[in-house]
Amino acid sequence: RSTDLVRNFKRRDAVVVTVLLAAALSYYIYTPMPDAIQEPWKLMAVDATFRTGMNLGFDSTMVALVGSRSPAGVVPGVKISDITFAGVPVRVYEPPAGGEGHLRRGLMYLHGGGWAFGSGKMGAYDKVSRVISDELNTVVVSVEYRLFPEVLFPEPFLDCVVAAKHFLSPEVLDKYAIDPERVAVSGDSAGGNLAAAVAQEVLAEPRILDSCDSPAANSDEILSVKFSVQALIYPVLQALDFNTPSYVQNRNMAILPRQVMVQFWLQYLGADISLRPQLIANNHSALQHSALTPELRSRLDWTSLLSQKFKKSYKPVVVERDSHGLLKKIPGLLDTRSSPLLAGPEVLAKCPRTYILTCEFDVLRDEGLMYARRLKDAGVSVTSDYYEDGFHGCLSFISWPLDFDVGKRALRSYMTWLQNNL
Ligand SMILES: *[C@@H]1O[C@H](CO)[C@@H](O)[C@H](O)[C@H]1NC(C)=O
Repeated sequence: RSTDLVRNFKRRDAVVVTVLLAAALSYYIYTPMPDAIQEPWKLMAVDATFRTGMNLGFDSTMVALVGSRSPAGVVPGVKISDITFAGVPVRVYEPPAGGEGHLRRGLMYLHGGGWAFGSGKMGAYDKVSRVISDELNTVVVSVEYRLFPEVLFPEPFLDCVVAAKHFLSPEVLDKYAIDPERVAVSGDSAGGNLAAAVAQEVLAEPRILDSCDSPAANSDEILSVKFSVQALIYPVLQALDFNTPSYVQNRNMAILPRQVMVQFWLQYLGADISLRPQLIANNHSALQHSALTPELRSRLDWTSLLSQKFKKSYKPVVVERDSHGLLKKIPGLLDTRSSPLLAGPEVLAKCPRTYILTCEFDVLRDEGLMYARRLKDAGVSVTSDYYEDGFHGCLSFISWPLDFDVGKRALRSYMTWLQNNL
């Protein structure tokens, strides 16, 4: 009898505990989602995992969501090698076709992850690189640039520049049988930031061959190879205005809420996280700062660079005074190598043909749209690919069970653009 009693209690307890756990879980997972998001519960689950990840360590969260790192080797057709480009670790994907006299496309890819986590070897990134290599007959080079906290700005950027210059050298293009007229630089999120910055950097300097050991090939031998296209997926492009309409509208949005993005910026630029509330208040771009000239401000002035569709009834947040000298404390905020949107029209005019993907439910939407607009104004051919049901990171969610229709559509469209423009 007494064992019966115990068993009954156990069963009842189990039911109670299950109900409580389920309630707690759905309370924890539930976040309000805009109606346009097509698979809201799936996104809530992804977001809950990310929020847990912020406490447990981001890298393991990325692994849980995007998939673990896969080994090098030969997967149907595509040859994968983990090597270094001038000392920077890269993963190279070589397509099966090609061979003698048959040149392929080249694409340098920079993965996202807030300059602090992620790897091109992880599930979705690895998968996309294989598919691009295979379907578009492209040699893909995914760069394993160093991350926070090991390094701070500008080191991750410099890693990418070193890898890019090596990739664009005649020897390397020749070795991989890549057409010098068809080399892309691409990346998503923080990787889109690095891709845009690297594209600007590579144009900025006369590309002088460093062959000190042979005086014949001296400094007047200038390399002509530059990136032919840049393809930026929800890129990070500026840190002076955290109150653009998209930043305000999506400040609590899944995956990349405003305070997480501001945290990534502060870490990247080597500043103290306690400054976050001041950046969110736009105190760092207060009117008193003489370094922020009207001309510089106009480069990210969304009131003139965005269409009414995105401006809606949002008002700019402009502060009179900043009592903390934030721009002096964080000089990286004004550096075009961290904030490609701040570059002048003379730099933008030299940028290659451009693809920029933006999503409605992303704090970074407006800087992507503004960069597209400014590049167009500078005479660059730009494709602005906007998803009204898209959210930040959607291209990484293409495999069951965390696959989203918008992620698959966006990936297809990105690849079609590369197919037609690279
Ligand atoms: C922004 O700066 C103003 C003026 O110095 C100050 O009163 C305000 O508290 C600051 N905001 C934050 C969030 O620090």
